[in-house]
Amino acid sequence: MASPSGLIPGLIEPVPLQKLVIQKGPLASIHLDVLRLDLVHPLVSGNKWYKLKYNLDDCHKRGFQTVISFGGAWSNHLHALAAACQVVGVESVGVIRGQKPDVLSPSLKDMQAMGMRLHFVTREAYRRRYDTEFHGELIVALGCDSAVTRIIPEGGSNASAMQGCAEILSLHSIQPVDYDRIATACGTGATLAGLILGAEGKGRFLGVPVLKGGDFLVQDIRKRLMDFGCDYQNWQLRTEFHCGGYARQTDELQQFIRRFYEDTGVPLDRVYTGKLFFALEQLVENGDILPDSRILAIHTGGLQGNRLLVES
Ligand SMILES: Cc1ncc(COP(=O)(O)O)c(C=O)c1O
Repeated sequence: MASPSGLIPGLIEPVPLQKLVIQKGPLASIHLDVLRLDLVHPLVSGNKWYKLKYNLDDCHKRGFQTVISFGGAWSNHLHALAAACQVVGVESVGVIRGQKPDVLSPSLKDMQAMGMRLHFVTREAYRRRYDTEFHGELIVALGCDSAVTRIIPEGGSNASAMQGCAEILSLHSIQPVDYDRIATACGTGATLAGLILGAEGKGRFLGVPVLKGGDFLVQDIRKRLMDFGCDYQNWQLRTEFHCGGYARQTDELQQFIRRFYEDTGVPLDRVYTGKLFFALEQLVENGDILPDSRILAIHTGGLQGNRLLVES
């Protein structure tokens, strides 16, 4: 197995920090920069590279031969994991929530084509994804050797992922204090927690959970930071921009994503980044973000999921 850091062919680092010039609408009144992590790599894209980097390094150092992780049929995380594992020469297994569909989603087809073994489990079984006993059962059922198998949680969200995300700003020579807010979409909150950790108490961070009822993330993010001995308070979540829940969308969101692309040329995905930029527009419109504010939005990728709009 090759050492992963820096050895994924086609990896672009640093990515562009794009200053958007928006002529009309609420976002025209602020200074909006976008860190285009979606351009890091065609397959190991967005925050995924940063979340996987040290997980893969760890596999390399400790001689793991198999990685098992968890996700849904459209998982950006499993998609990126399959691609990265193929390159570094480690076997990957995706434990997929729900019955095997008659026709695989484009994301699942890609994962399989990149050598990932797909293991479908019932939704009930999937609820045990953080349970170490379940991990043991999976290792046996999959015929893996527990001594050389690494379990990576859903979304890749562990301490190694935070370590990778903590480097995002410094790798791009970004000073947190140069912005009034640094904003990112949240699923598990590990990316936001990593960014906050890396900024060492400087700057102000805004997380936009894409799930309904995202308030639970406040505790989760606090705990993630506390695990690193940090109690930073320079962040907040705005939980009202889920547009109906995870992977749900409204006509307004769809129209926004289309309009944003026409105005800026920046493609957004409908599950994560679409909701982030939509939230920013709403927050400017309702006065929570003031005119002339300097905002940095992290484009965390996820564009592979957009094929569902066309193909499903
Ligand atoms: C494109 C994209 N953006 C943002 C996130 C949210 O990341 P996190 O789970 O670390 O909050 C994810 C999920 O990992 C994602 O796939």
